[in-house]
Amino acid sequence: MKIIKSKPELQKAITLLREENKTIGFIPTMGALHQGHLSLIAFAQKNNQAVVCSIFVNPTQFNDKKDFEKYPVTLEEDIAKLTDAACDILFLPEVSEIYPDGTAQLEAYELGYVETVLDGASRPGHFQGVAQVVSRLLDAVQPDDVYMGQKDYQQCLVIKRLAELRKDTFSLHFVPTQREPDGLAMSSRNRRLSEGQRALASLLYQCLVSIEAQQGTKAFAVVQKECIDLLTHKGFKPDYVALADAETLEPLTDYDPSKNMIALIAAFIGEIRLIDNLPLNSIK
Ligand code: PAJ
Repeated sequence: MKIIKSKPELQKAITLLREENKTIGFIPTMGALHQGHLSLIAFAQKNNQAVVCSIFVNPTQFNDKKDFEKYPVTLEEDIAKLTDAACDILFLPEVSEIYPDGTAQLEAYELGYVETVLDGASRPGHFQGVAQVVSRLLDAVQPDDVYMGQKDYQQCLVIKRLAELRKDTFSLHFVPTQREPDGLAMSSRNRRLSEGQRALASLLYQCLVSIEAQQGTKAFAVVQKECIDLLTHKGFKPDYVALADAETLEPLTDYDPSKNMIALIAAFIGEIRLIDNLPLNSIK
């Protein structure tokens, strides 16, 4: 695997791959890699002859300074995992490579409704930061295919919107969420959980499953309250327990089998904010 830190060097490597008629699959990450990230690489390898992964802990998407400072960094392990996975290129830029003019005055994207709800409402500026970095990474890599995890469902819709705004021609693939055996969605932030917090963390997934299972038997508002009460009782601080139109993320006040629905949860356990979601199987 080539490890590349500068954009010009990356461009050279990409040109070489293009000369070999290889298509390029791209997976942007912030490192602290786990099986979820590696599943994106495996997905890309099925479609593309060359795979580029980036690791860049993007300062502009952290609305909480403490979260940025405590974001896990495990570079040596990450490089070993990517090498084992036969990733072709790791793009590992410094902040100055991505933001040569600093981060004080960055462009704003018209991301529309999707950035105003749920995580957008709770984490002001977060999705602008995601759009700013992903846009720069796309310019640097110029991929044929981009792979994003459904774990961050709202982020998937933000990147879809960004690609429309940029008039990008790559194909965007959303890859299913990888989970631990107890259902907890894999996440770099899980490393920060204490043993006790880790034991409780799969409650988010259990709530999502109960939202799905009670479709048709209870009103969503009742199930939502049960979930919030349970999470609170176990020591979480729920941010939202929501049901939304999976296409637009508009909130649904009750189950609507005429729509593709998605259940989404965000909750703090201690100072760590966990998110998860589950597209609902329709009972149409
Ligand atoms: P990061 O959290 O490192 O995630 C990188 C990619 O891995 C994202 O597309 C994310 O949805 C996916 N991913 C994370 N956990 C997953 C899981 N359990 N199963 C499947 N895929 C999973 O998301 C980001 O970084 C950043 O916001 C980024 C897009 C890189 C911009 O900075």
